[in-house]
Amino acid sequence: MPAIETENLTKTYGSLIAVDHISFEVRTGEVFALLGPNGAGKTTTIRMLTGLTRPTAGDARVLGFDLRRDLPRIKKHIGVVPERSNLYDELSAFDNLVFAMQLYGVPRRERGARADELLRRFRLEGKRDVPFARLSRGMRRALTLAAALVHRPRLLFLDEPTVGLDVVSAHGLRALIERLRGEGVTIFLTTHYLEEAERLADRVALLVQGHIVALDTVEGLKARVRRGSTVEVHLVGAAGEERLCFHGEDTEAALRLALAHAEAEGKQVVTINTLQPTLEEAFIELTGLSAEVMLAEKGSSNVA
Ligand SMILES: Nc1ncnc2c1ncn2[C@@H]1O[C@H](COP(=O)(O)OP(=O)(O)O)[C@@H](O)[C@H]1O
Ligand SMILES: [Mg+2]
Repeated sequence: MPAIETENLTKTYGSLIAVDHISFEVRTGEVFALLGPNGAGKTTTIRMLTGLTRPTAGDARVLGFDLRRDLPRIKKHIGVVPERSNLYDELSAFDNLVFAMQLYGVPRRERGARADELLRRFRLEGKRDVPFARLSRGMRRALTLAAALVHRPRLLFLDEPTVGLDVVSAHGLRALIERLRGEGVTIFLTTHYLEEAERLADRVALLVQGHIVALDTVEGLKARVRRGSTVEVHLVGAAGEERLCFHGEDTEAALRLALAHAEAEGKQVVTINTLQPTLEEAFIELTGLSAEVMLAEKGSSNVA
């Protein structure tokens, strides 16, 4: 049974189609990334799948349960880490976790021990009694993730998990996500960072203006755009040096072109690198967008 199945899932706001008939499956145990620029419909998709907003049209099954009929059962087994934390500023790290456990119906006698276990696991034991608002951004995000795990969900939704975090905190959070995957938790995350999808996801759906334009493994997406092989050569001759790329249908063909060029120009080959296609190249070719679109942050973006 897939962890998530959607069929023509759609959300409109007035005349705006935020999510436009998307159909996809998330396999149990995988990390699935919804990758797209700001405004693509990522958050709206998560909000529909977690019961925060009702789909305008289409269907979805989450953990085998019908989204429209079985929402309470779905909620018992999923965890959600929203882009903006849902924890309480004035409650301590420990009290926030206990409060989350109350909401999820974790038995009272288990709460204290489980909260301390989670604090240790997220390296927040030293912040046990510190109010949420006084934690660093990275710690707030980690605690929000911990609070989403109090009831041991089988499926975790993460909306832009590392946005706004410094490099070190982002790295730590990604390591936590990888560890959860290792424990068998299915992970559905959204991101507008190509590199994040590439690092974390087993499969990636490219979402643009509410449409899924491609869905595959990172390798599969790369393989779609560039057939053949590219080599980069560093050449040195009397007139100076240059670095050039040659593309052929395989590495041998690309190398032949490079060597023919070197010979024709009377230059010597210093180094040769085989270039691997990047997810960025795949993204550009599959979406028709520039990679800069992904860098546009909210507010500064005029991308639909
Ligand atoms: N509550 C809402 N009312 C009206 N429009 C909305 C609402 N939520 C989102 N939108 C619009 O839907 C589109 C998709 O938004 P969103 O799902 O937040 O995108 P993303 O998370 O990919 O940045 C955007 O054009 C956004 O302005
Ligand atoms: Mg969003």
